[in-house]
Amino acid sequence: MCRTSYRSMRIDILSLFPESLESPFECSIVGRAIESKIVDINFHNLRDYSSSNYKQTDDYPYGGGPGMVMMIEPIFKCVEVLKAQRDYDEIIYFTPDGNLLNQPSANRYSGSKNLMLLCGHYKGVDQRVRDHLITKEISIGDYVLSGGELAAAVFCDSIIRLIPNALGDLSSALTDSFQDDLLEPPIYTRPKSFNGWDIPNVLLSGDHNKIDSWRDKMSELKTKERRSKLI
Ligand code: 6GU
Repeated sequence: MCRTSYRSMRIDILSLFPESLESPFECSIVGRAIESKIVDINFHNLRDYSSSNYKQTDDYPYGGGPGMVMMIEPIFKCVEVLKAQRDYDEIIYFTPDGNLLNQPSANRYSGSKNLMLLCGHYKGVDQRVRDHLITKEISIGDYVLSGGELAAAVFCDSIIRLIPNALGDLSSALTDSFQDDLLEPPIYTRPKSFNGWDIPNVLLSGDHNKIDSWRDKMSELKTKERRSKLI
């Protein structure tokens, strides 16, 4: 009997708002990857690790200034509990001042066995968390979100879809925009003509060499126009 083998990945997500993260994981490729046990995502509410009576997880910054800072203790406790159970490839903190996520780094992280992801809120976490517990810091772009949860969801989607067997047809992940530093060419499906808008004739030619070279040319044009730095 031939059985397809696959690697599986475990992701632990530490957050003050874990419920805000559940729905992005329910649909499409990521949802199916979870159902088929290609990936196992576990949410941890940092409030559960607070030792104070009223479950405090943030406090005022030393030295003053606006905003609240996430305290080290609940994060430290949660990280310790998880690290005692398995080794982690990386413990990643999501922050706008982190290293920018791109396709080569998503490819690399998709080969991980265990990842721990920490989502920041308010003014972020006490610097000692970053200095002593975190192994990587990631941003998903040069704009500010109200918390790291959506960034963590974006990161998870980008790496889960690259795990072998997560996409039905891996070749479609390999032809993604950015995988070869080129953006994807335009793509069409039926009908041939809609509202007087026709698809390019070459796609109906049946000549696959011609179609491939048209697609290459369109990719290159689009990349020059929109991401000239990639060329
Ligand atoms: Cl990782 N976090 C937040 N709060 N904002 C961001 C981000 C992360 N990446 C881009 N903007």
